Amino acid sequence: MDFKVADLSLAAFGRREIQLAEHEMPGLMAVRKEYAQSKPLAGAKIMGSLHMTIQTAVLIETLVALGAEVRWVSCNIFSTQDHAAAAVVVGPDGTVDDPKGVPVFAWKGETLEEYWWCTEQALTWPGGDGPNMILDDGGDATLLVHKGAEYEKAGAVPSAAEDDPEEWKIILDLLRRTVSDEKRWTTIASRIKGVTEETTTGVHRLYEMFKAGTLLFPAINVNDSVTKSKFDNKYGCRHSVIDGLNRATDVLIGGKVAVVCGYGDVGKGCADALRGQGARVIVTEIDPICALQAAMDGFQVTTLDEVVGIADIFVTTTGNFNIITADHMARMKHNAIVSNIGHFDNEIDMAGLAKIPGIVKQEVKPQVHTWTFPDGHAVIVLAEGRLMNLGCATGHPSFVMSNSFTNQVIAQIELFTKTEEYPIGVYVLPKHLDEKVARLHLDALGVKLTQLTKAQADYIGVPVEGPYKPDHYRY
Ligand code: NAI
Repeated sequence: MDFKVADLSLAAFGRREIQLAEHEMPGLMAVRKEYAQSKPLAGAKIMGSLHMTIQTAVLIETLVALGAEVRWVSCNIFSTQDHAAAAVVVGPDGTVDDPKGVPVFAWKGETLEEYWWCTEQALTWPGGDGPNMILDDGGDATLLVHKGAEYEKAGAVPSAAEDDPEEWKIILDLLRRTVSDEKRWTTIASRIKGVTEETTTGVHRLYEMFKAGTLLFPAINVNDSVTKSKFDNKYGCRHSVIDGLNRATDVLIGGKVAVVCGYGDVGKGCADALRGQGARVIVTEIDPICALQAAMDGFQVTTLDEVVGIADIFVTTTGNFNIITADHMARMKHNAIVSNIGHFDNEIDMAGLAKIPGIVKQEVKPQVHTWTFPDGHAVIVLAEGRLMNLGCATGHPSFVMSNSFTNQVIAQIELFTKTEEYPIGVYVLPKHLDEKVARLHLDALGVKLTQLTKAQADYIGVPVEGPYKPDHYRY
């Protein structure tokens, strides 16, 4: 088996944590049981690009239990949990000397070159007959396949402009080496039945490709299942934003001024958590609806420029770029904490920060750095501007990820087994499946549902067994 992880001897520790996680992931375990015999993913060759954590290990082993062959990478250079990666490679039945699990190409602290090399490896199936499905988080695997196929069609890979981001230059270099007359990427693209996408940012990329007419295979937008974005993005971040801050800095949050940029699902969870710790939370927004929500939830809403000099903690949650600029950081208090929990690192202008004449970067510990300005004040930047909950801590806990990943498994089954029902486009799962995911998580929390009577169901115009809401309902 080909694989590349940090240290296989961590597998036993990883396995113990996977066993604990399985107990906290009732949705995934129920799906495993439901499909144990029928194995709907037999024949599926799934390339996964999603943070290689303990929770993801349970997802991977569920896909395998349903019959799939899987190859995996992390979708971020800092988010891999090395013991999880080792345990997945060794597998439940293997040993360190005789691994029998799944090929994983991921370790904590990859360089960007290594990151894209890993993505290429996971997309390169032994025997050349796969993958036929992608499970993506943020859209990097989907992007590589699309760009490779696009440049093969054009007959050349364009040169990078000097001011292009470093990462884009790395991608172009990789494609220059791998785009081929044998149409390597075009062949990979033609085999893929579909992609299921985990997060807001990746979904945004998919809709843009579909609008531009460049999407090459159908996609299921897992993010916009209610049981994903209204749970993982919100309650998941409510948990893991504090975990990231604590493990990185252990600063007391109570009494501090915290600025949350963006009040979408992630922003709502972060602002709530910071307030729960006793911080005075200020929100910035561009959308009047979200700004009004934040105001009515009791937060001060203003611009970053207004408060940049008084806040102690900054968290960006926008999925947009250039939210905190180098100029903002130049005006911050000494040792203000600057962090991002959105998918990509360009929410904070790290490149601009590095270009300030005389600035000094010092590592406090991995993924925590001080940047000291010539005037003597410093800012503490978490995870080099990458998502801090996975870079500095261990991301969302199992129970909430069970909701997200149950949607992922159902979406993979949908696209793989009903391919002809999904012409190229971007789809969300039907509401009855969303409700099913929620239902699978109720018992574990001791929730008792009220049963509709037939007369009540008729009165509000829904079936007794659901779905209970129209598609336009917003929760
Ligand atoms: P969303 O679209 O619900 O929220 C983003 C909010 O930011 C919107 O309300 C938007 O109006 C606002 N915004 C955009 N530009 C802004 C600006 N210049 N200043 C202030 N506000 C601005 O998206 P969601 O679901 O909250 O996701 C946000 C990001 O977090 C995405 O990149 C997503 O992929 C990522 N994500 C990260 C997770 C993690 O564990 N770290 C988990 C889930 C999502």
